[in-house]
Amino acid sequence: MTLTRETLENVLSARPVRFYERTDSTNDLALEWLRQGAASGATVIADEQLKGRGRKGRTWHTPPGVALAVSVVLHPPVEALHQVSMLGALAIAELCEQLSPDAVAIKWPNDVQIAGRKVSGVLPETAWDGDKLAGVALGMGVNVRVDFTGTELEDKAVSLETVTGTTLDRALLLHDLLLRVDYWSARLGSAALFDAWKRRLNTIGQPITILDANIRGIAQAVDRQGALLVRDAEGRVQRIMAGDLALG
Ligand code: BTN
Repeated sequence: MTLTRETLENVLSARPVRFYERTDSTNDLALEWLRQGAASGATVIADEQLKGRGRKGRTWHTPPGVALAVSVVLHPPVEALHQVSMLGALAIAELCEQLSPDAVAIKWPNDVQIAGRKVSGVLPETAWDGDKLAGVALGMGVNVRVDFTGTELEDKAVSLETVTGTTLDRALLLHDLLLRVDYWSARLGSAALFDAWKRRLNTIGQPITILDANIRGIAQAVDRQGALLVRDAEGRVQRIMAGDLALG
């Protein structure tokens, strides 16, 4: 179904929402809205992004009609800031579990995978007033019916409709996703959020490589900040705060 302002207003009712058929990046618009005083939960949605951003300066493609591109304004306490990306991954994982209960996992730090293929990515971006946290735009991108056939991502990425074999309504998916975001944002900073995120990681106990830091070893655990503890071949435990991870 086409995503329109009207369908979103019906489905998302009281939530402050800004919808764009096309924009550069929903994160930019959410950060701008945040600066203008947007409350927690204010949401920017686009059908198409022209300059969607991924982690580590990468591009995130959002062609029209096939994905969710959404950014939610949050005002977390600064000591819970590290949990915002966990929150995004967790909310998306729960959405995916409704559709495919057994195959969903989070690849550290916050890629949501179904049967080992990436279905979604999360990009929180912060706004600061000097050294005071003004807020966060929690950007989430979900592949709903992106066709990866014949692309370099064919073996690495997947869309929800490929998994379910059914047509999905993006407005209803957004409704369910935002319910999960609201639930967990009321619990930012909690052990419950950390535990729910950690339980879904498919990384612990596995041989892994941190590609951008050239570290190989066994992923031993995550700490409360979300950092990955990796035991290398010499037996040293390295603490990795962020990185690009490959299993194996
Ligand atoms: C990743 O690299 O895995 C993170 C991808 C995050 C993409 C989303 S789509 C909505 C929001 N707007 C952006 O420009 N990026 C995020």
